[in-house]
Amino acid sequence: MSIFREDVLAGKVAFVTGGGSGICKGITRTLMAHGADAVIVSRSQEKLDEAAAALVAETGRACLGVAADVRQPETVEAALDAALERFGRVDLVVNGAAGNFLCPASQLSYNAFRTVMEIDTLGTYNVCRAAFDKALKASGGVILNISATLHYGATPLQAHPSAAKAAVDSLTRSLALEWGPLGIRVVGIAPGPIDDTEGIARLVPPDVRAKMIAAIPLKRMGTIQDIADLSLFLCTDAAALITGWTVVADGGAWLAAPALP
Ligand code: NAP
Ligand code: COA
Repeated sequence: MSIFREDVLAGKVAFVTGGGSGICKGITRTLMAHGADAVIVSRSQEKLDEAAAALVAETGRACLGVAADVRQPETVEAALDAALERFGRVDLVVNGAAGNFLCPASQLSYNAFRTVMEIDTLGTYNVCRAAFDKALKASGGVILNISATLHYGATPLQAHPSAAKAAVDSLTRSLALEWGPLGIRVVGIAPGPIDDTEGIARLVPPDVRAKMIAAIPLKRMGTIQDIADLSLFLCTDAAALITGWTVVADGGAWLAAPALP
């Protein structure tokens, strides 16, 4: 059961990139379960249609899936136009679209590095910029950027997402500064390892899993619901004074990461 009123987001519309799968589908479900309608955005229309149907069935709210590539501003703008045409407003923008894989920096192709920078960093900027123009500057709202903790120290085989998410955190601060006077809060969440996700499937080999959990102070991985609940908090007026800040939700994992020699 939620500690928030089930209508705490009534009348709000959420625009969620990456909302067709994993963590951001969970975020969308929780926002919808608290009264919001939603637009979910990623590249595969088929995946989005399936996810939207499930989210509607689970929550009773409306959900529209719109295919777009966050690297292409014109497709992002078209997705926002579709959101506004269907719902008339966008109040909550979640930037969850991302790409990642394990690869040593010495073996990353130029294009591999650029691809992850383009999805995570430029994609986040493109969505923020388009949502600002088309919706948020007129009526305010909340932007929630999904980051990571990879770049707090240095994470092997993760130079590309570390650089990308560091830039996302910087953007969270800059946009909070510039857009705060217009009633726009810009916040982030830095999840640690979250179980049952594509991220974990790609980044944590099965033989490393138990050792990784043992090293986490709270002795467990996060759940999608952990991140969804925190997202809900940040999207409500319970977080009305919070902006420019990226909240770490990792059970203490990064604090316990082994120091480099
Ligand atoms: P996921 O399900 O693979 O989520 C990534 C989403 O981004 C997918 O829905 C994907 O859909 C979409 N996407 C990828 N490229 C895109 C593009 N160019 N344009 C539009 N959409 C695109 O993975 P997840 O593990 O739940 O990760 C969600 C977020 O949490 C990411 O920002 C990730 O960096 C962050 N995070 C995850 C973990 C973890 O433990 N899983 C830890 C820290 C941070 P399509 O492929 O259909 O486009
Ligand atoms: N190791 C090293 N390089 C890789 C790689 C891997 N596992 N996977 C892809 N690349 C390289 C490709 O070889 C290509 O470089 P090249 O042109 O020099 O050969 C470059 O990355 C782009 O790959 P491509 O498949 O064309 O990109 P895409 O835009 O179709 O897909 C990815 C983007 C690669 C990030 C893809 O994995 C994806 O769609 N991910 C979304 C889901 C995800 O990553 N979820 C986890 C979030 S934490």
